[in-house]
Amino acid sequence: MKVLVTGGAGFIGSHVVRRLVTNYPDYHIYNLDALTYAGNLENLRDIEKASNYTFCKVDITDVVAINDLFSKHTFDKVIHLAAESHVDRSIEDPLAFVKTNVIGTMNLLNACKETWKHNFSNKLFYHISTDEVYGSLGEDGLFTETSPYDPNSPYAASKASSDHFVRAYGETYGLPYIISNCSNNYGPNHFPEKLIPLFINNIIEMRPLPVYGDGKYTRDWLYVIDHANAIDTIIHNGEVGSTYNIGGFNEWQNIDLIRLLCKIMDGKLSRKQGTSETLITYVKDRPGHDKRYAIDASKVHKELGWKPSVTFEEGLDQTIDWYLSNPKWLEHVTSGAYKDYYTKMYLS
Ligand code: NAD
Ligand code: TYD
Repeated sequence: MKVLVTGGAGFIGSHVVRRLVTNYPDYHIYNLDALTYAGNLENLRDIEKASNYTFCKVDITDVVAINDLFSKHTFDKVIHLAAESHVDRSIEDPLAFVKTNVIGTMNLLNACKETWKHNFSNKLFYHISTDEVYGSLGEDGLFTETSPYDPNSPYAASKASSDHFVRAYGETYGLPYIISNCSNNYGPNHFPEKLIPLFINNIIEMRPLPVYGDGKYTRDWLYVIDHANAIDTIIHNGEVGSTYNIGGFNEWQNIDLIRLLCKIMDGKLSRKQGTSETLITYVKDRPGHDKRYAIDASKVHKELGWKPSVTFEEGLDQTIDWYLSNPKWLEHVTSGAYKDYYTKMYLS
């Protein structure tokens, strides 16, 4: 079986690629990635020489390159993660999100439709999406698979748009698809622009921790390895034409999470308790900031038996340990040196 993973050099994609390459020696895993600022092949150093792994540097907005790749390989399954993924960047440059998240997804859908058109059996386009497409919750309630779409940020709107196109290709052309919408991930290899890795890095460096607004925004956090496990479960056992919500059953107000992070980091860095909390700095709020996300993941649990394997405390502890044990990874990412890795490994 040939499986194409898009965005496999990114945070979640690299954990998906590692899992598939390691667990399924009979499959060949193709990792398609444009290596934007968020793509880092150092994430996959441990499996890059595996005989069932191939890296393809391709931009999903490049229709010629996509069609060329699909004419060379008849992929059986596509797991589509490549995306612009940071809300703050989407506020600065929304069009970049339309190009990659909407047009790029369309290019992949068209390539699958054309390549598979004579035979859709055993083929699958698995689209990885986010809970942010559902908008914001009030104090109560959870997002289910039937919650109406109500995106607020340009990032969420671009992901919602791509979800709609995937379903439209299923309805109109019979393209076999699955969509999963997941809550906020955290874990190793997370680019330090998102809340948890940014704050871990700032605590190490004793830099301010910029808390948006009053800090009372709520997110549902899932360990990235549990998300990769869910994706593995869904690609093998999910029902074609279905949507699955994936979440950690784990809601935290930002400020409570940040205080916990500070406390654990003070312990691990042998600093006096309370040291890191002095770095907390309230800053201007993010425009259109969604108040609360929380996922009802009972469908994937009941139908496919998936549930998170670690508690938040365990996952956060492992994540902090990973960042403290991989200072070179952090240094390369923050200095930009990780970009030289592709040249060294693939072009020299
Ligand atoms: P990321 O930003 O860490 O990685 C994205 C990857 O896509 C990078 O390797 C980047 O190089 C690649 N990419 C970007 N534009 C590309 C293009 N035009 N062509 C080819 N490759 C391109 O993102 P992530 O956090 O790993 O998220 C992966 C997917 O999961 C995204 O679709 C995101 O919407 C979704 N998601 C993320 C979260 C989360 O908490 N991080 C939660 C739910 C869903
Ligand atoms: P983020 O990691 O960007 O994920 P998302 O916006 O996709 O949920 O942000 C998580 C939460 O943390 C969100 O409520 C915004 C907040 N936040 C801060 O308060 N300060 C920061 O510097 C960042 C990056 C996020």
